[in-house]
Amino acid sequence: MERHLITSAIPYINGIKHLGNLVGSQLPADLYARYQRAKGNEVLFLCATDEHGTPAELAAAKAGKPVAEYCAEMHEVQAALAKGFRLSFDHFGRSSSPQNHALTQHFAGQLDAEGLISEVSEKQVYSNTDGRFLPDRYIEGTCPNCGYDKARGDQCENCTKQLDPTDLIEPRSAISGSTDLEVRETKHLYLRQSVLKDRLDAWIDSKSDWPVLTTSIAKKWLHDGNGLQDRGITRDLNWGIPVRKGNADWPGMEGKVFYVWFDAPIEYIACASEWCDAQGLDDAAWERWWRTDKGAGDVRYTQFMGKDNVPFHTLSFPATILGSNEPWKMVDHLKSFNFLNYDGGQFSTSQGRGIFMDQALEILPSDYWRWWLLSHAPENSDSEFTWENFQSTVNKDLADVLGNFVSRITKFCRSKFGEAVPAGCAFGEEEEALIASLNARLAEYEKHMSAMEVRKSAQELRAIWTSGNEYLQSVAPWTTFKTDPDRAAMQTRLGLNLAVLFGVLSSPFVPDASARILESFGRSSQPWPQNMQDILGTLQPEDPFTVPEVLFAKITDDQRDDWQARFSGQRD
Ligand code: 2FM
Ligand code: ZN
Repeated sequence: MERHLITSAIPYINGIKHLGNLVGSQLPADLYARYQRAKGNEVLFLCATDEHGTPAELAAAKAGKPVAEYCAEMHEVQAALAKGFRLSFDHFGRSSSPQNHALTQHFAGQLDAEGLISEVSEKQVYSNTDGRFLPDRYIEGTCPNCGYDKARGDQCENCTKQLDPTDLIEPRSAISGSTDLEVRETKHLYLRQSVLKDRLDAWIDSKSDWPVLTTSIAKKWLHDGNGLQDRGITRDLNWGIPVRKGNADWPGMEGKVFYVWFDAPIEYIACASEWCDAQGLDDAAWERWWRTDKGAGDVRYTQFMGKDNVPFHTLSFPATILGSNEPWKMVDHLKSFNFLNYDGGQFSTSQGRGIFMDQALEILPSDYWRWWLLSHAPENSDSEFTWENFQSTVNKDLADVLGNFVSRITKFCRSKFGEAVPAGCAFGEEEEALIASLNARLAEYEKHMSAMEVRKSAQELRAIWTSGNEYLQSVAPWTTFKTDPDRAAMQTRLGLNLAVLFGVLSSPFVPDASARILESFGRSSQPWPQNMQDILGTLQPEDPFTVPEVLFAKITDDQRDDWQARFSGQRD
């Protein structure tokens, strides 16, 4: 049995995620986790909310709530939506957990002991009114280059010039609008990534099977310009993990917290420890997934994320792990995604553009979305959601092919043979040919699923459903029945067994529909097939079944137009 550790990039706490976020990490990670479990492998699938940083603080302020309370509430909201989309995390943790506090402080102490932390004094803008330092993006003013009056401290959106906050004319706080700002000296910790450059380079070179999208991004950061830069890992904020060296104070760092991108990936590990605590297991149970000296040697670790997250996962987090000089498990495969666009533009959280997870579930069950998103995953390039494409994909693939097959064969059987599997004669040539071709298709499907080729997997699954329809169409048991009922019974028996097969193979993509198909044959689950001969003999003569309710309703033109209009503007 293989052991798979699977993590999805952990979504920011501030607000509900859109479908572009979902398809870029959590959903394909779930597909892979479900597949590995179905194959009988041992899986630990983890995700969490990413709760620190200025955006979390500001979102809480906007909601008029203390930040800890805001995060606790939003965590529950995101957890409920994850359930709604049937994301099968073994644990959905929180980066603000005590476990992550301890582990993040442990890593910082360890990196310091290895000589990989430096203390740097820098000048930053302090807002007297807000009583806090302002990160570059929270300082606004007039652009010295083009005169745009809403330029940010890091860049002018209007003329794209890169700026320093001190370049701005009449700078003000983006939080309060106050102009009572001053430049103050402040001390920060830097992770000396540059020292680790060669080790990181060699580690990335050892990953020959990584997608080009992943390695090219990592290599660019390692080699472009001055090469890999040291990175500030602390911030002057109230909300976050206090800067400490393990259990000890860090002199001079009082009142500061770790940078959100330092503690977020450490939560992948802390989340496993949260999982153990929640299950009442002892530490050995999570360490066997994460410590190569404690049993994680044979674990295969796969991470899923959008392309914007790749630098942190190929460089910064590995630098933390390598630099600690402790035997932590490192990622084996990193699956990254391009972006999903929305109806001629971009999905945007800040502008409320696109479809958000809660809205999606209000209009259709999760399987519809899962199938469209996964079968159009932005793997090799960005892809686009349009309502026309969504409607036609759902209607053709789910309603006309999968749903129709199951409904047709069960209804036909009920009308001619009753609600029990008929016996009939032995398989003939057509059946043997179908079995041979399905065996080949199963092997292809498994190959793509193991390689996390999401779109190719969806195509192969669709082809499997289609071959069932083609078989029924070609042997036409409704016609055979008139002249050779025994043969029609055998064709029907095979058709019903094909429905069971579809139920099993479709479960990683459309888990609810799969469960309903299997339920109608009295099964709460069904082992993944070793070969077609076996699985197509699952249902025996006399086994009872029921005709399932409509599995997938077609999307009408009116619904499509309604939804398109409803989701064309900005969400409030
Ligand atoms: O892009 C994001 O949504 C980040 N919150 C991802 C963090 S992944 C990791 F490092 F934990
Ligand atoms: Zn400008």
